[in-house]
Amino acid sequence: MAPTETVTSALDLATIRAQFPSLAETVNGHPAASLDGPGGTQVPQRVIDAISGYLRRDNANTGGAYATSRRTDAMIAGARGAMADFLHCAADEVVFGPNMTTLTYAMSRAIGRDLKAGDEIVVTRLDHDANVSPWLAMAEDRGVTVRWAEIHDDCTLDLADLASKMNSRTKLVAAGYASNAVGTINPVKEIVRLAHAAGALAYIDAVHYAPHGLIDVAALDCDFLVCSTYKFFGPHMGVLFGKREHLQRLRPYKVRPNTNAIPNCWEWGTLSHECIAGIAACVEYLADLGRARANREDHVGTAALGCPSSAARPVTTTERRSAIEAAYAAIHEHERGLLERIMTGLKKIPGIKIYGITDPARFHERCPTLAVRIEKHTPLELATKLGERGFFTWDGNYYALNLTEHLDVEKSGGFLRIGLVHYNTMDEVDRLLAALREIVGK
Ligand SMILES: Cc1ncc(COP(=O)(O)O)c(C=O)c1O
Repeated sequence: MAPTETVTSALDLATIRAQFPSLAETVNGHPAASLDGPGGTQVPQRVIDAISGYLRRDNANTGGAYATSRRTDAMIAGARGAMADFLHCAADEVVFGPNMTTLTYAMSRAIGRDLKAGDEIVVTRLDHDANVSPWLAMAEDRGVTVRWAEIHDDCTLDLADLASKMNSRTKLVAAGYASNAVGTINPVKEIVRLAHAAGALAYIDAVHYAPHGLIDVAALDCDFLVCSTYKFFGPHMGVLFGKREHLQRLRPYKVRPNTNAIPNCWEWGTLSHECIAGIAACVEYLADLGRARANREDHVGTAALGCPSSAARPVTTTERRSAIEAAYAAIHEHERGLLERIMTGLKKIPGIKIYGITDPARFHERCPTLAVRIEKHTPLELATKLGERGFFTWDGNYYALNLTEHLDVEKSGGFLRIGLVHYNTMDEVDRLLAALREIVGK
């Protein structure tokens, strides 16, 4: 890391990076650069400690009349409270599950129980397939009509098209908060408003957005929102927010001895308790980022990307929630610098095509997740050559299949994806750009 950038106005990167043991790895003598955040972020030591500490001290099933089981129940309640602060909802609106895909399949089946032939749902061309295929399967089972919202050439959602696909028969709109391929941030609050105006539920996939921007389900007023903790510095788990009224009204597919009380009636079988312990630690990690910034600058930020932190539904704002808000303001500031630097450098690489928004004036509409292709080089070839030099990037469609098909890159290897998060540095960006120039021979 370049010495000049260890402490930026937003983040103390040296202190941050020292908390992530994997960031010190090397590959073939090169320092490893984790530019694969959209596929999964690295975890700080405290998450590793929480997971192993749980297994060492508290390992038990829930609901037993003995010490470790009681500690497990208390730990899960604590993690639920942490995620409630993260999402800005009540703790009984937080459902844990193995991952976003599994939670969405389960919820789509439960929602589908109320739907019938003639009803309609809307999905988008921009979404990861985990927010598409579960709805297509449900629609097929129930005879429901699926309508597709299209995108503009700059890989932003065509809101007018989305609105035109809704009518009084629309029962659900499934949309992403941000694209895991091209980084576009959707105007989710407006999408929710349109869905509600049509009398439909809004189901939001925030998996890609979560490491980059503050989530405020109270302000968004969405009915459901899903995310995956392994994308924001935690363990491999998924989390679903559902408005209490929906979690109470809908009927889950579940075993009979399981409780009928929310949110547990939406959690089936035994979950990964050790990972739930890790979730609480990752939320605390984020909150500490915000506290550190507030301490350094006496600055508690409230900025969010596309989502002002004002609750439409009354939800308690805790000290931890305020710290999380400050953390995301700092993350946003740092990521914005990284995005400007990488975009400027990428634009100079001969033969490159950058998908999505490239105009700095519109950077508030995107995350620092870049999908590119370079003439005469397949995405796999680029990712492999970068990988040998210690740069972890991704190639292919990353399950954003509808987008790669729409842009006609699916058959030729998709895109090379470079995904930056707050622990990445300007130095990593500069080294990546130099490596890319060397690979393409310029
Ligand atoms: C935008 C988006 N949605 C959904 C998913 C699926 O998440 P999970 O792996 O938790 O099922 C991913 C995974 O990459 C994603 O990027």
